[in-house]
Amino acid sequence: MANKTVTITDNSTGKSVELPVLDGTIGPSVIDIRKLYPALGYLTYDSGFQSTASCESRITFIDGDEGVLLYRGYPIEQLAEKSSYLEVCYLLLYGDLPTAARMEEFKKNILHHTMVHEGLRDFYQGFRRDAHPMAIMVGVVGALSSFYHDSLDIHNPRHREISAHRLIAKMPTIAANSYKYSIGQPFFYPDNSLGLTENFLRMMFATPCEPYEISPTLARAMDIIFILHADHEQNASTSTVRLAGSSLANPFAAVSAGIGALWGPAHGGANEEVIRMLDRIGDPKHIPSVIARAKDKNDTFRLMGFGHRIYKNFDPRAQILRDMCHRVLKEIGAENVPLFETALELERVALNDPYFVERKLYPNVDFYSGIILKSIGIPLNMFTVIFAMARTVGWVAQWTEMMGEPDRRIGRPRQLYVGSSRRDYVSIRERS
Ligand code: CMC
Repeated sequence: MANKTVTITDNSTGKSVELPVLDGTIGPSVIDIRKLYPALGYLTYDSGFQSTASCESRITFIDGDEGVLLYRGYPIEQLAEKSSYLEVCYLLLYGDLPTAARMEEFKKNILHHTMVHEGLRDFYQGFRRDAHPMAIMVGVVGALSSFYHDSLDIHNPRHREISAHRLIAKMPTIAANSYKYSIGQPFFYPDNSLGLTENFLRMMFATPCEPYEISPTLARAMDIIFILHADHEQNASTSTVRLAGSSLANPFAAVSAGIGALWGPAHGGANEEVIRMLDRIGDPKHIPSVIARAKDKNDTFRLMGFGHRIYKNFDPRAQILRDMCHRVLKEIGAENVPLFETALELERVALNDPYFVERKLYPNVDFYSGIILKSIGIPLNMFTVIFAMARTVGWVAQWTEMMGEPDRRIGRPRQLYVGSSRRDYVSIRERS
């Protein structure tokens, strides 16, 4: 029995159950309720999972009250300043920072997988040109399992590792192809003399007709955006990947399910919606009416890029991006673009409004990432795709962790049933 326990007593029957309290390394302890139903016949109810830990994990830690985000124990601020996205990928997958030799080997492994099967390139032709790139991503990533049979034994750790490498390496190629397809330009093959981020920018923006120079400033800005989005504990898309993977589905199918979950505007789709909202606001003089709509309970409108389920004081990723936003816009000479001015004014007004203050609604990562992505020329409909690319390592790290657990079971939540109780079938002629 654990050191700490919690006893739950059913006042109607007098029966009790003593439940163990499990301590993590840091963060809140959890009550292990697995014995609750067998002992008392009760389930627990927590729609939205506000008080429910769905798994044990060693990958990412968030303290929402203090604005702390750690990958494998390392603060996000240090990683954003000193590390690279590829090194963060290694850290999330393997648990520690690599030695120089391990990093070199990892880089070689990843770059070896950047190309996609030629048959997969043909796959794009089946999509309409005006398809949203996220729709293409869901389809193409799901289809990867039909091309890479050689490593689909999910019970084999080496196969799991190869699939993880393939997903991390191929996502930038698949994402850039989705964009090129939508604008009718030829696909680019990856150039493995470049890093992952530079390669992505080249595959997105280069054309066969003229040389393409990769700006080191923009490449670094993009790399930091990738680092900040790489993992975020058990959010909606990661939980989706775990749930799909728990049925022993292959990792490509599980990640495709995660991309679908990320797409929604309450999750990864918010970065795109932030820019649409700022564009609609236009002049800062319209901000008061937008704030009034966001506060109106009869209106479904929400201020995009504000609020977070976990961060209740500030989102540390947003703070890093806020500073970077200023730097990037200054470097590309776009500091006074109206969109950015509107964004800063909206932020100022919301942060001083009691509605947002009382509910602890602060700008989140998507508020600033959208502005940076727009300023470096990324088209609006690619914003969530970029989030998906960056989050792929988090998804596969979490999936790999789950698949390695000895007592892994299929994820299967229960429910509070509030529908009709048992009733008998009535023939159609006799129904009123
Ligand atoms: N604008 C206006 N009101 C809001 C907003 C918002 N953006 N977010 C929350 N609220 C209000 C909400 O109406 C509720 O008010 P009341 O208590 O009076 O009913 C209260 O704040 C609590 O909201 P909630 O919906 O219970 O909070 P949640 O934890 O379920 O939702 C959220 C979190 C991120 C889905 C939500 O804040 C939201 O929809 N934000 C806008 C979308 C957005 O920016 N999403 C990106 C999240 S960060 C990227 C990622 O990790 O996915």
